[in-house]
Amino acid sequence: MRNPTPSKTEIRGKVHKPLIHDSAIKQVSGEADYIDDISEPKDLLHLYVAQSEKAHADLVELDVTDVKAADGVVAVFTATDVPGINDASPVLGDDPVFAEDIVEYVGQSLFVVAAESIEQARRAAKRAKVVYNEKPAILTVDQAMQAGSFVLPTRQLKRGAPELKREQADRRLSGRLEIGGQDHFYLEGHISLATPREDGDVHIHCSTQHPTEVQHNVAKFLNVPDHSVTVEIRRMGGGFGGKETQGAWFAAMAALVATRTGRPAKLRLDRDDDMIMTGKRHDFVVDYDVSFNTDGVVQAVEFVFASRCGRSADLSAAINDRTIFHADNCYYFEDISIISHRCKTHTVSNTAFRGFGGPQGMVAVERMMDAIAHDLGKDPLEVRKANLYGKNERNVTPYHMTVEDNIAPEIIAELAEKSNYLARRDEIREFNKNSPYLKKGLSLTPVKFGISFTTTFLNQAGALLHVYTDGSVMLNHGGTEMGQGLFVKVAQVVAEELQIDIERVKITATTTDKVPNTSATAASSGSDMNGKAAQAAARTIKERLIEFAAEHFEVAQSAIQFMPNRILIGDKKTLTFAELVQLAYLNRVSLSSTGYYRTPKIHYDAENYSGRPFYYFAYGAAVSEAVVDILTGENKITRVDIIHDTGKSLNPAVDLGQIEGAFIQGMGWLTTEELFFDDKGNLKTHAPSTYKIPACSDRPDIFNMALFENAENVEDSIHKSKAVGEPPFMLAISAFNALTEAVSSVSNYELFPELDAPATPERILKSVRAMQIGVTSDRSAAE
Ligand code: MTE
Ligand code: HPA
Ligand code: MOS
Repeated sequence: MRNPTPSKTEIRGKVHKPLIHDSAIKQVSGEADYIDDISEPKDLLHLYVAQSEKAHADLVELDVTDVKAADGVVAVFTATDVPGINDASPVLGDDPVFAEDIVEYVGQSLFVVAAESIEQARRAAKRAKVVYNEKPAILTVDQAMQAGSFVLPTRQLKRGAPELKREQADRRLSGRLEIGGQDHFYLEGHISLATPREDGDVHIHCSTQHPTEVQHNVAKFLNVPDHSVTVEIRRMGGGFGGKETQGAWFAAMAALVATRTGRPAKLRLDRDDDMIMTGKRHDFVVDYDVSFNTDGVVQAVEFVFASRCGRSADLSAAINDRTIFHADNCYYFEDISIISHRCKTHTVSNTAFRGFGGPQGMVAVERMMDAIAHDLGKDPLEVRKANLYGKNERNVTPYHMTVEDNIAPEIIAELAEKSNYLARRDEIREFNKNSPYLKKGLSLTPVKFGISFTTTFLNQAGALLHVYTDGSVMLNHGGTEMGQGLFVKVAQVVAEELQIDIERVKITATTTDKVPNTSATAASSGSDMNGKAAQAAARTIKERLIEFAAEHFEVAQSAIQFMPNRILIGDKKTLTFAELVQLAYLNRVSLSSTGYYRTPKIHYDAENYSGRPFYYFAYGAAVSEAVVDILTGENKITRVDIIHDTGKSLNPAVDLGQIEGAFIQGMGWLTTEELFFDDKGNLKTHAPSTYKIPACSDRPDIFNMALFENAENVEDSIHKSKAVGEPPFMLAISAFNALTEAVSSVSNYELFPELDAPATPERILKSVRAMQIGVTSDRSAAE
């Protein structure tokens, strides 16, 4: 049969158009339903989770008799009430939903209280008798390294002979950098609403990026088959990776209460509980040791990464692997060793967060580039350019994947030119000479981010498409909407395929009983994979319609043309989409189809870090300008210029929104968002009063963003677009490095500052003082 897709010139495009997010208006007017907006049934139970107050202890006694007797309490469940397996982890089976005989972090769930009101549930929880036998707690990376405490074995990637190459290099320096974690601070916290169904089944509205994993974990927990549990999510109020795994704990509790009491049950964490009880971005300690020539070209490099994983593995294996995969960023390092320690600490288990370990690797290598430039007295941009991957040589990553689509050099050149980088660098140096208290810095950093789950089997997706007899279409797929604009993009793909107006395509909630066995919406691959799956479903229906019409009207299949909202049947006839669909129905043609997609070309040997873990790379670059008040450490990012590559964008409006949001979120991570645990393992920054995410006023006054023009994915991605969710997050490294540069100016650029992330005013001030008295972190020694 002929390919039913008409050539590009024949169709009025639905893709590559800046369509508004399908929920944008409902979201600003308040009409968009989040789970807590669903009208509450009158017999609803409200749940509260009692938490461990100790970081590490034997749970000697847990007596909930008085809790059960409290006003309004209907049920209390502990680990002993779990009918199935007391675990809701993604990989290793090491995340008990309720603590059993030990607790391993402050905030760990002890038991759940179900009451008529949330106030009653909270009040009752306090009446438990909990006896701990406290044990020494390992809280930080340094403590874990000293104790040899790891959640997973240490890994190493090595290529070439860095030890030998180092001997031949002109210069060598080393440095250490601490990189803080980050709370997801989604506007909507974790929430699950479970409703009992007949036969012991349960339906759960769960704010999750991974409905299938929640379903499977809940089924295991309740000891029922997967088909007894349905998980549904229309939209999250943000996920950012924080809802990739850990929503399952709360869904399991709500499902247990619903199935045991026969009443619907809602568990919604408030902000403080959400911040205390759920994992964050991994904080890291990084050591680098680099040798290079006088032209700045790296000859040998060794990174040692150590991350705080918390009490369980969660996704830490894949996250720390992604750090390894991104410690090169855009640079070719022939002789390299990367060691990755995955530390076990008595803190909440850290989890996925936009960039998934990649950002930490890239912060490290970008700091190293600045250190090299400083050592040689060169412009950091020059050093970066000297180390970029080549096009046909110097183009194989340390994990043996050939970089086939390297557009970093073009993006960097265009951005340097457009942002007037060189002239502004001189102006800033001049300004700093004459300005005693305000110091400015400028930095350009590039981004290369690998697209695909590094866990290869996760790179598959499914969709379900129904066409009703009036020509309206129901679209469902395995991806979840968290604000990123996935649903509108996939709807555009379907509208394009069927040549119908997008209004005809009903966007529906993600639910495990429509599309099964899905992967998390993560790794930025939501639109790549679900777009292709939905396209396949639409194509199947279109092919059936073409086959039917050709037969029915006695024309060749090649004579059937899908035009905007109409179908040409040779030169005989024109039908509307609805007319053709109605006719097909009357002639008993199936108007419903599934679609499936698996990412091609990828393969990867996890043992040896070797293969092609990524289908392709997304690129970008940013120039940030910072100003620092050296009397107070206060600072601001005043101007940012970005060029970012989204291939042939499916939706430039959504993509620009993603780029802006990601940059600001990354800037928050590296500047103001500081997580502080006390020496007992209590998170002291668990509300916006003490944890500062960016405000509107933190947005740079000048913020120029552009999509890289004439970009097109060299691979066969959905309509030649590229993933956009995570890559622009790492553009914010330029902001951090601009601050470092401003601090360095205090020593007239003679010293290279020690400045850890986040670069809070306190840290900047400390670093400025060190510059003033002539202390440097620079442990470099010419060899
Ligand atoms: N954008 C918004 N508005 N809200 C989010 O929670 N999550 C990010 C990114 N952009 C997020 C977001 C993360 S961590 C990922 S992996 C991608 O969106 C997931 O969606 P996608 O694969 O459809 O891009
Ligand atoms: N990104 C996000 N989530 C994941 C990945 C990844 O690479 N691998 C497994 N889960
Ligand atoms: Mo995103 S961290 O892969 O959910």
